[in-house]
Amino acid sequence: MAEMEVRILQQIIEASTAGELEHVRIKYLGRKGEISALLKNIGNLAPEQRPAFGAAVNALRNKVSEMIASRKDELDREALEQSLLRDAIDVSLPGEYFEVGGLHPLTKSLREITSILSGMGFTVYESRETETDEMNFVKLNIAQGHPARDMQETFYLTETTLMRTHTSPGQIRGMLALEGRLPVRFIVPGRVYRRDPTDASHHPVFFQVEGLAIDVDVTFKQLRGVISTLMNRFFGQDVRIRLRPSYFPFTEPSCEVDISCVFCRGEGCSVCGGSGYLEVAGAGMVHPQVLLNGGYDPDKVSGFAFGFGLDRLAMLKYGIDDIRLLYGNDKRFLSQFRGL
Ligand code: DAH
Repeated sequence: MAEMEVRILQQIIEASTAGELEHVRIKYLGRKGEISALLKNIGNLAPEQRPAFGAAVNALRNKVSEMIASRKDELDREALEQSLLRDAIDVSLPGEYFEVGGLHPLTKSLREITSILSGMGFTVYESRETETDEMNFVKLNIAQGHPARDMQETFYLTETTLMRTHTSPGQIRGMLALEGRLPVRFIVPGRVYRRDPTDASHHPVFFQVEGLAIDVDVTFKQLRGVISTLMNRFFGQDVRIRLRPSYFPFTEPSCEVDISCVFCRGEGCSVCGGSGYLEVAGAGMVHPQVLLNGGYDPDKVSGFAFGFGLDRLAMLKYGIDDIRLLYGNDKRFLSQFRGL
């Protein structure tokens, strides 16, 4: 019987599937199995041999059942492990990749400027990019043959229409839209077009932000206050502004707006050409004729206007040294502003 036990245990261990193991179980423990056959044989033995034989067979049967049960556990665990391995999700597979976009530095700058000025009561007037010669020049006091046209002689679409050379015609259109109502307080942001040579600081398309405020008793001092507040909020409190007398046909008096150089803080460097200042805008008190052209009475109201170069502001803010980068659509450049 010991020999039989060894043989059975061997077969249990060798069973490598639940099916094979079941086979072994039936072979020995089944109703017609070998161990059951031993028990049936018990009647052929001498009576005094029976108890010992019966006990031995029972012990064998118990042992075999136990071995089969534990082998069954083992096989079940192996099968489970294998199915887990087989059905595993390969989490190392690269997922689908979406590049995160970001706002263009010009868009960021314009949004910030719009937000600062809207805090001071300015709304946004979206004017148009194709203009009439009349609006772009004549209504702004720049008559046919006026020398101020030379700087802006530009992309004509027909004899009398052109791509606007500045956002100033938006002043006239905005005023006319308000039909004499007060106060007038809006900005006109947008693209302008000039036949300029293209270099690090010039591009045939660029952006301006025009501003116009008209009311009874609007003063030059208010102009200065709005401009310095805007510059300080945009560039920081340590930036100083300087107004230099200048000439524009549509303002009187007129000035250029300089800010202390944001790179050298006014000490003089290559960006500001050693002067310590950078020009960022033109401005002035709205010329009486321009008020009239917009439907306002210069004897009753006064106004100020300004025109910032948005590209210049963005370049100074983000340390961009070539305007062409703003229009190149190069992702290596643009991606640098993603999180800013
Ligand atoms: N339109 C002028 C330009 O493009 C800039 C400018 C100057 C706008 C003075 C203004 C202003 O509103 O008052 O050069």
